[in-house]
Amino acid sequence: MKRRIYLTRVISDEAMKLIPRQKYEIDFNRLNRPVSRDELIKQVKTANGILCMLADRIDRELMDKAPYLKVVSNYAVGVDNVDVAYATKKGITVTNTPGVLTETTAELTWALIFAVARRIAEADRFVRKGEFWIWSPALLLGRNINGKTLGIIGCGRIGQTVGLKAPAFGMKVLYYNRSRQPDFEAKTGAMKTSLSALLKQSDFVCLHLPLTTQTKHFIGAKELKLMKPTAFIINMSRGPIVDENALTQALKTKTIAGAGLDVYEKEPVVHPELLKLDNVTLLPHLGSATVETRTQMAIIAMENLLAVLEGRKPRFAVNTPQ
Ligand code: DGY
Repeated sequence: MKRRIYLTRVISDEAMKLIPRQKYEIDFNRLNRPVSRDELIKQVKTANGILCMLADRIDRELMDKAPYLKVVSNYAVGVDNVDVAYATKKGITVTNTPGVLTETTAELTWALIFAVARRIAEADRFVRKGEFWIWSPALLLGRNINGKTLGIIGCGRIGQTVGLKAPAFGMKVLYYNRSRQPDFEAKTGAMKTSLSALLKQSDFVCLHLPLTTQTKHFIGAKELKLMKPTAFIINMSRGPIVDENALTQALKTKTIAGAGLDVYEKEPVVHPELLKLDNVTLLPHLGSATVETRTQMAIIAMENLLAVLEGRKPRFAVNTPQ
């Protein structure tokens, strides 16, 4: 009998071609939006494997309704949408797609650093208004990046890749991380500091932490107050790491100079006050969104899924089910 795979979104053809059709029955959500909860529950009831996105909540309730499920292949590096501990108990392997999106996410971090420093999105809006303008000494003044301090909170793969590019822009690097990263320090001259020292000294604070119960609201009013009024914060990790109410307040009162956000606390809902502010650049969770990287993510996610269903070790499992 054929085993059944369910995909919560359409992914690249390169990945779809990997499925041996004679062995698997495949279903997928054809809509250009996340699958509804009811539909997902219905689909997992008979699925042996699912390939899902970070917007799909794979929790206890769902897994309890999936008696044949052997693998949850997440099309992301972050697995905060999956109850990994419960999957482990249920004998379900959870996999992810690390590595391929590191450079891509780091590049977008730099895009946001430049965007906030030089007010790119605001300047674009200004030109599009079509009103008269002419070169002026004080028109849309930004801040230099050269000579400034970059503070990296969470110095894993992506954080380090961001930091490695900083010396090329003449920046000093500070980082806050559980463990020291000696190779990274040797390559960049970076210094490991306490969280408060990093917040006080950095001109650009970049967040690259995974979302866990410990990192929820890691940055709140207290932390934002420690930052310089000329500093910017960039969140490329997960929205709930920042207390969005506190951030909105800090941006309104100019406690900090600005922010660049790719992720939101109640994604895809953006705090309505943020939408009104010019000192924040807002992106719709595009960290890994390049043709090359999304193709690679799809291939890896499919390979992980097929490996588990065929009794092989997947390349990237985040748990070891009993
Ligand atoms: C991830 O993989 O966690 C990214 O946020 C997806 O873009």
